[in-house]
Amino acid sequence: MKVVVGVSGGIAAYKAVGVVRGFVLAGHDVHVVATEAALRFVGRPTLEAISRNPVHTELFEGVAEVRHVALGQSADLIVVAPATANTLAKIAHGFADDLLGTTILASEAPLVLAPAMHTEMWNDPATRANVALLRERGVTLVGPASGRLTGRDSGPGRMAEPEEIVAAALAVVGPRDFAGRRVLVTAGGTREPIDPVRFVGNRSSGRQGVALARAAAARGAQVHLIVANLDDGVAPADAGITLEHVDTAAELEAAAGRAAAEADLVIMAAAVADYRPDEVAAGKIKKETQGDTLELRLVKNPDILRGLVDARREGQTVVGFAAETETDREALLELARAKAARKGVDYLVVNTVGWSTGFGTPDNSIVMLSGSGDILTEASGPKASVADRILDVLAR
Ligand code: CTP
Repeated sequence: MKVVVGVSGGIAAYKAVGVVRGFVLAGHDVHVVATEAALRFVGRPTLEAISRNPVHTELFEGVAEVRHVALGQSADLIVVAPATANTLAKIAHGFADDLLGTTILASEAPLVLAPAMHTEMWNDPATRANVALLRERGVTLVGPASGRLTGRDSGPGRMAEPEEIVAAALAVVGPRDFAGRRVLVTAGGTREPIDPVRFVGNRSSGRQGVALARAAAARGAQVHLIVANLDDGVAPADAGITLEHVDTAAELEAAAGRAAAEADLVIMAAAVADYRPDEVAAGKIKKETQGDTLELRLVKNPDILRGLVDARREGQTVVGFAAETETDREALLELARAKAARKGVDYLVVNTVGWSTGFGTPDNSIVMLSGSGDILTEASGPKASVADRILDVLAR
């Protein structure tokens, strides 16, 4: 999708970089139109590097290609973040005295604005009237949030967080084929305590599971997302997602059991530790008392997915994941087919993991199988677009 990100001149322009990055990571072709004032807050090279495209500002550049309208005409979505009080006013009244104005006027694409300004400006009757006018015309506003502003003041006016803006904007254009569906997603990796300061765990970052939750929410689902030990910055703040934190497999089992009772679709993307220490030391294990070797006895954790399949309600769909280190494709598919049958899932999403693949990376490569082992789809690329391909199959 071609996304135009308009950046106007407020201090929140530095956060526009995160918005641009969010669309790029979701697999979109992003073109930034920045006002002159915006470029005093954030550098053109930054926006160009992140968007991977030239940044446009000038009305009198690219005249031969009629750029002042071409960008708007070809856009599938226009997002202005931040939208200052001045920019809101100009858009509300159809001003076309800069490239952002002409781009918006020349476009039929959905328009999403993320206002950012001081509380007094947001509350001013002129801004109130402009916002009402924009909403009446079907423009989507995301935020502003309430919180600390640039000076010592705080209150409504803070620009919404980039990931919230991206999710809300994609929800405006995307299919709503999961509207009314209740979806449970688990993500991340469980940690099994050894003593109060140590654990047995795995390298799952939670990115693919979170991407699935976000994609489902963007497509209209009501999502319950249970997360175990996500990497920093991965937790979503999107509308439509209820977040629950767990740590161990036992906690995940309890939380997933409760949430599954309410779900139409269960996606078990979490990497569950297969074993946990038999005994958890009450205090920190010390080298002095332990000596040169330490033996840990591990006992098997319950298979949460198998339990969910056994408790499956009428009409409920259960999707499992399989993370394998097997690199030979046929052997991988054999393992996966056996796993799908063993677990009794409706679908199994298979990906290879290794020292440098699968875990913690922005991209993923998957094969999706039916419960009986037929290949339904294969996808690779950013985890967000892989998530959408998986949901495409489930939507059918
Ligand atoms: N899973 C689970 N509970 C466990 C282990 C795994 O619910 N104790 C789920 C995972 O969330 C995933 C699926 O089962 O959806 C497959 O996980 P995976 O680790 O690939 O398979 P295992 O059953 O653990 O088999 P193995 O590790 O022997 O390959």
